[in-house]
Amino acid sequence: MSSLKILVIPGSLRTGSLNARLAATAACEFAQAGADVTCISLGDFPLPIYDGDLQTKSGVPKNAVNLKRMIGVHHGVLIVTPEYNSSVPPLVKNTIDWLTRVQDAQEPRGQVFRERAFAIAAASESRLGGTRSLAALRLILTACHATVIPNQLALSFAGQAYDDMDRLKHPADVESLSALVQQLIDVSQHMM
Ligand SMILES: Cc1cc2nc3c(=O)[nH]c(=O)nc-3n(C[C@H](O)[C@H](O)[C@H](O)COP(=O)(O)O)c2cc1C
Repeated sequence: MSSLKILVIPGSLRTGSLNARLAATAACEFAQAGADVTCISLGDFPLPIYDGDLQTKSGVPKNAVNLKRMIGVHHGVLIVTPEYNSSVPPLVKNTIDWLTRVQDAQEPRGQVFRERAFAIAAASESRLGGTRSLAALRLILTACHATVIPNQLALSFAGQAYDDMDRLKHPADVESLSALVQQLIDVSQHMM
């Protein structure tokens, strides 16, 4: 079990991000379940807005290649995304767009999406908890031929979802996160 590697990617760079907080909570859950978990910041992989002319001129940015390789050494990936105007924020979409352009030696483009399991979660101050962003992200990842597990978590009223010990306080949220974590572990192990 210790060899199962899970990557957690928060889709926000904002100081005090609700999604980074949920990502950290999820990372703890994965660790408690016995996975070898890494939580990154997309701030460590800054990318320009995708532009075909830029790709033609300069190739795919090194940060996209590095992030693709980082994903490639993990068996499962959790993306925790904000919701912007009923969809995924540009940071998340732009990152995925660049990842789909990475061409590593002796590997078909997009292989990194096909070879591992993905889970998705969102946190928002709204009642819907970013549900529409999850629908959009599921569509995008599925179009990349990723296996996206059915369990997901949309954390409603996310600013008030934690107790004084920084734990999720609503049983339904705890259960949803736990089910997501266990399913990503199970499906990732199956795909190893
Ligand atoms: C441009 C923009 C659009 C937004 N649209 C939505 C939305 O459609 N649904 C929603 O629940 N929250 C929306 N929000 C609020 C975000 O969910 C909120 O700012 C959240 O805290 C962002 O995630 P973060 O805390 O991880 O940075 C929007 C925020 C911004 C800046």
